[in-house]
Amino acid sequence: MRVLVVGTGGREHALAVALTRDPAVGEVHAAPGNPGIGQVATLHDVDLMDGAAVAALATSIEADLVVVGPEAPLVAGVSDAVREAGIAVFGPSRAAARLEGSKAFAKDVMALAGVPTAGSHTCTTADEVAAALDTFGAPHVVKDDALAAGKGVVVTNDRDEALAHAAGCERVVVEEFLDGPEFSLFVVCDGTVGVPLLPAQDFKRIFDGGRGPNTGGMGSYAPLGWLPEGTVERVMEQVVAPTLAEMQQRGAPFVGCLYVGLALTAGGPKVIEFNVRFGDPDIQPVLALLTSPLGVLLRAAADGDLSVAPRPEFADGAAVTVVMASAGYPEGSRSGDVVVGTETLDREDDVDVIHAGTARTDAGLVTAGGRVLAVRATGTDVADARAKAYEGIASISFPGAQWRRDIAAEPLGVVEGAASRG
Ligand code: AMP
Ligand code: GLY
Repeated sequence: MRVLVVGTGGREHALAVALTRDPAVGEVHAAPGNPGIGQVATLHDVDLMDGAAVAALATSIEADLVVVGPEAPLVAGVSDAVREAGIAVFGPSRAAARLEGSKAFAKDVMALAGVPTAGSHTCTTADEVAAALDTFGAPHVVKDDALAAGKGVVVTNDRDEALAHAAGCERVVVEEFLDGPEFSLFVVCDGTVGVPLLPAQDFKRIFDGGRGPNTGGMGSYAPLGWLPEGTVERVMEQVVAPTLAEMQQRGAPFVGCLYVGLALTAGGPKVIEFNVRFGDPDIQPVLALLTSPLGVLLRAAADGDLSVAPRPEFADGAAVTVVMASAGYPEGSRSGDVVVGTETLDREDDVDVIHAGTARTDAGLVTAGGRVLAVRATGTDVADARAKAYEGIASISFPGAQWRRDIAAEPLGVVEGAASRG
């Protein structure tokens, strides 16, 4: 099978690595990719937002499966263009991608499907926002309705800050605050049913101890030893099954990865958000532990029948990913800083470097984005994997590099959550 991965980030690098380990996958291609992905896949220069161009590339290389990684092309309908060209695609249609593209749409689906989630009001005027803030009380949660690359959500005790954020958006969702440790569950869906991968935790704040602004994610680990037994089954039953049924009923069956972001509250797991793709860096440790064939799984989902693929299986032990970000992140990012030391890790078995914002120039490997790369390690348990990941981090350097020292040191729990949202 020949697979084309669309995207440029750590998620796509981790997917490409896992695909090359599947004996059923003969060739991995990526568009446009990055220098790390280029080590395991053939790169093609294509505008990933251009559905016709992606479909033409997939046709010309005779791809058997296209995996669309990021949300922006999914929301723009790139999957639809590939599907119309007669090629199997893992990634939801534009209509189904609204689960991430519009927070209000997602809330509407959850309400009709009876999914446990935070109470919410969708507001378009300042008066509506003020009333909703008073209904739910502090801490206040205000979300831009539109895609905002992780920067659309403000959680604060300061009512004026909440009002100011809402004033900058056309339409917002004001929510009840969910208290409890957060976790991510990635569910591979074929339109009718879904199969879960391992739950993971993502450390979203830039600084140790959960301080500072939100980022796309500074590190992650799996599995979650602290998660009560039966939690995944409960999420599949109470969240995923009714959501897939509701999407089908709307004529927008969901094919792709349903990323369920949850808080484990005193009243059980409740949905914080849906995304319509694998999460990065949260998917990195999950894929490091996957032992069953990824290409076969994604192809079965794309073909609408997961029953033909082996159930996902995972190695014992744990995996940890630590992100190195560039100077200025997350407000901005500095490009062109020379990155040294990644080559030594390319020879390790249980440690690898996952590229996100890197580029190759005459100067060598340089930074080219906010999150530059991640060091990912597997081990006998979280502590072992964590030690190896940090050993790897110590051998890489670039000017202005930022990374957290406390990824997976303890489960990201109520303490970090409370501090970071305060
Ligand atoms: P989102 O973009 O919806 O994932 O929100 C970003 C972050 O804001 C989440 O990872 C949570 O830490 C926090 N957050 C969002 N919604 C809520 C909520 N209803 N209660 C508590 N925290 C929330
Ligand atoms: N790690 C968070 C995300 O991918 O949205």
